[in-house]
Amino acid sequence: MREHILKLPKVELHSHLEGTIKPHLVHQIAQRNGIELDQNLFNDKGGYAWSDFPSFLVAYDGASSCLKNKKDYRDIMYQYLKDCASENVIYMETFISPDHAAECGISYDDMILGCVEGIDDAEDDFGIIGRIIVTCVRHLGPKKGIDVAQKMVDNPHPYIVGFGMGGDELAFTLKDFEPAFNIAANANYPCTVHAGEISGPESVWDAINYLPIARIGHGVRSIEDDKLLSELIKRNIHLEISPGSNLALSIYPSWSSHPFKFIMTKGISVSLNSDDPPFFETSVGQEYQNSAKNFKLSIEDLKNISLMAMKASFADSETKSKLIDKILKF
Ligand code: ADE
Ligand code: ZN
Repeated sequence: MREHILKLPKVELHSHLEGTIKPHLVHQIAQRNGIELDQNLFNDKGGYAWSDFPSFLVAYDGASSCLKNKKDYRDIMYQYLKDCASENVIYMETFISPDHAAECGISYDDMILGCVEGIDDAEDDFGIIGRIIVTCVRHLGPKKGIDVAQKMVDNPHPYIVGFGMGGDELAFTLKDFEPAFNIAANANYPCTVHAGEISGPESVWDAINYLPIARIGHGVRSIEDDKLLSELIKRNIHLEISPGSNLALSIYPSWSSHPFKFIMTKGISVSLNSDDPPFFETSVGQEYQNSAKNFKLSIEDLKNISLMAMKASFADSETKSKLIDKILKF
């Protein structure tokens, strides 16, 4: 079964590019850029040091502080796509935050151009298709959200397929970000937002009531409200679920208490995602393997998860139908 799962074509819709950089690559990039890293960033085993959601967000910012130029973005995108391709991921959408680039003195254009180069090189070398979701950061506030959305709309690129938001779910309200999301949606960018991860079902209600979103990042805490589950089905909202991340961040104490299978069985469209792989010691392939084992999923279930993900992706229709065929042929 493990070998069969490894070979299954996989689709990832939810990772944060700045959160995919492994510690050894952070050291390598920091060294060539002459950047001294905060030694509190790492634990004594060489992994990232964090203990809860706020300290995770600090470590995440610390890892991205190694970045200085376009080539760095090219390299982190290429490396992550290479890792994904080794687990037979055929399509991957990742969040990229212009606010993190700006913090490192990197322009929006250089950030995008670097990512595009990484995507092209990885497709040439491994056949994997990568795409970008431009993201604002919730705890930086609604004004920065508007700036990010406007920058994206003013600088289109075929690899930029959507708009999203991560960050601290307890900062501001989702309604505060309505103007930013409307800028993206009015320019025909599909949207996704983190909700129902740290906060309860009320945050998912806010997401669907105030924001023009087709997907929700996490959304697992929707299970606390039956009416909300029915509404998600009615509106065909896809949930980008990351069980390993939820366990690492103690949203759920164990695999047996995680609601992935319950949500899937309800008929809600779901995908399996790594979120921030080295922080949570996971990968897309591991999420498939662990979910198969702990949720007792068959290979047909997993294939259906890849199909749901590809259908809910923000890829253009030609890419989508080509990759759906590829999954169906497995
Ligand atoms: N940014 C990176 N990972 C995140 C997560 N799991 N939740 C919210 N924001 C994030
Ligand atoms: Zn996330």
